[in-house]
Amino acid sequence: MTSGIKNVILIGAGGNLGPAVLAEFLNSNFDVTVLARETSTSTYPAGTKVTRSDFSAQSLTEVFKGQDAVISIVGPTGFAEQNKFVDAAIAAGVKVFIPSEYGSDTKNPEVLKIAPVLAGKRTLVEYLETQQDKISWMVVIAGPFADWGIQNEFLQYDIPSKSAVIWDDGDVPVTQSTLSQIGRALVAILGHPSETANQYVYISSYTATANEIVAAFEKATGVKWDVQTISLEQTLAAAKEKFSKGEINHDVIMDLIRAACYSKEGYCDIRKNLWNGRLGLKEEGLEAVIKGLL
Ligand SMILES: NC(=O)c1ccc[n+]([C@@H]2O[C@H](COP(=O)([O-])OP(=O)(O)OC[C@H]3O[C@@H](n4cnc5c(N)ncnc54)[C@H](OP(=O)(O)O)[C@@H]3O)[C@@H](O)[C@H]2O)c1
Repeated sequence: MTSGIKNVILIGAGGNLGPAVLAEFLNSNFDVTVLARETSTSTYPAGTKVTRSDFSAQSLTEVFKGQDAVISIVGPTGFAEQNKFVDAAIAAGVKVFIPSEYGSDTKNPEVLKIAPVLAGKRTLVEYLETQQDKISWMVVIAGPFADWGIQNEFLQYDIPSKSAVIWDDGDVPVTQSTLSQIGRALVAILGHPSETANQYVYISSYTATANEIVAAFEKATGVKWDVQTISLEQTLAAAKEKFSKGEINHDVIMDLIRAACYSKEGYCDIRKNLWNGRLGLKEEGLEAVIKGLL
């Protein structure tokens, strides 16, 4: 079902992750098209093939005809649309669907217990599993975005003030991937469609503890960083309480996802499952990523 993948369509290529994925596909042998909403204000590099849709089932099916793979990179406001993408892809005869994941290990029920905000991602894959005689799927689990997570406070390392927030002892290894590494992984996955069909594909730029990341920043900046320690137990309890009361704001969601990563069980340490070797995807290494951020 997955042989001969050539035409690839990206949905949500204008967001945080999308541009890095698009750049890797534009640099590959795949024939890539971006699908954007009619209302979208996203912009793309000159020469990018862009098609627009009202995202009705009929329009999506028309757009997907002739495509071999549909990659969803939509953000949370688009998650609920993805079942429709799958059905339209099947109706159009697409071979492969990749849902919007690219983070925590949503296959692990313990992760979903801590961060129930991620449960919808798993539900979509359960739906894909019921359809895998018609369309293959692959899920990319990449851990926190390494570069974006630092530039956007998610990972709580602040380069301008040379400060960091560390959960508990800061000694839990966390596997992380840069946006470009995720783009390269998607290109490599579609280059290995039989091996990766219906698989959770775990990838990495590096695995490091918070203490190692602070030490790498200190080495690279030549300055001692100001480190604040917070309790995972207390932070998680506060986020869970707000979540149970329906106060599901950005900070609560981020704390739940961070708690799943920093828990002492090491749910974000995905080294034993990595596909980097099989995909020919070199790790970038902590020091190189940090150097690129300074
Ligand atoms: N591992 C991590 O640390 C981490 C961090 C952030 C995000 N993520 C994950 O990465 C994925 C992408 O996240 P992101 O932050 O890049 O997303 P984003 O910037 O919020 O949105 C990406 C794109 O989604 C499209 N979109 C939004 N709502 C839509 C809808 N209703 N229908 C169709 N398209 C819609 C938009 O496309 P147009 O307007 O261009 O049409 C937008 O450019 C998600 O699965 C997210 O959970 C992981």
